[in-house]
Amino acid sequence: MSTDTERDPPAYDADVSKETIPDREDQALLEVRDLDAGYGDLQILTDVDLDVADGEYVTIVGPNGAGKSTVMKSVFGLTSHMGGTVIFEGEDITGRRPEEIIHEGIGYVPQNDNVFASLTVRENLEMGAYILDSVPQDALDAVFERFPILEERQSQKAGTMSGGQQQMLAMGRALMLDPSLLLLDEPSAGLAPDLVDDMFDRIDAINDDGTAVLMVEQNAKEALRRCDRGYVLANGRNRYMDDGDALLTDEQVRRDFLGG
Ligand SMILES: Nc1ncnc2c1ncn2[C@@H]1O[C@H](COP(=O)(O)OP(=O)(O)OP(=O)(O)O)[C@@H](O)[C@H]1O
Ligand SMILES: [Mg+2]
Repeated sequence: MSTDTERDPPAYDADVSKETIPDREDQALLEVRDLDAGYGDLQILTDVDLDVADGEYVTIVGPNGAGKSTVMKSVFGLTSHMGGTVIFEGEDITGRRPEEIIHEGIGYVPQNDNVFASLTVRENLEMGAYILDSVPQDALDAVFERFPILEERQSQKAGTMSGGQQQMLAMGRALMLDPSLLLLDEPSAGLAPDLVDDMFDRIDAINDDGTAVLMVEQNAKEALRRCDRGYVLANGRNRYMDDGDALLTDEQVRRDFLGG
């Protein structure tokens, strides 16, 4: 019997995949190479490669427990580093702490508990700029312009807002330092179906304004439809990488990861 690798001709091949995106390498924003990472001594990721070009919109999909969130946390300095490199804007940020990584221009919206429930909306946004001496008013204005509901509700405790509003708040907080790369872990999770499209539209708008986006999504088909490029991760390893549309129409990706 053949192995999985033998059966899957379009499966990820690190060297070939890198060669298919030479123009993007020229404007590389984030380059993850051969990353091994996990929690304590427990290794979750093995040899993970990932590229995000300047202004690009990249999605990571894969089964539960594949290590998608672990990739995001690793880029943001929240895991145990065990090997490989994370390069951002040409600088090696491997093993740096989140406070330093925020300074470099990466914003991160975690999958869970991504607002301070007992703080007001405005206080949450101010926390997004805690590394600065004072809260930049223009950044606050820009977030309010993008998410008017946050301005209307600025005195309300975050924990009393709806799921969609909390997600906007978490994004707004991550945008307070005007990052060049925004990491979004499952931004549509827990949203009512009629709000999911609105959330994706807002992410499109952030990307259209020039911020590169690296997003993990369980709503894999919609995410792949919207993004420039996608990665399928399984068992802590790269499995496929291609343009979003190509992954969407790949028979094996559809069958094994997109529910047919
Ligand atoms: N803090 C932690 N300590 C130990 N193991 C962890 C921790 N967080 C995650 N793991 C383990 O790492 C593996 C990958 O988890 P991760 O959260 O990255 O997966 P995921 O692809 O994001 O899954 P999901 O789709 O459910 O969000 C899982 O086996 C999980 O149990
Ligand atoms: Mg996750």
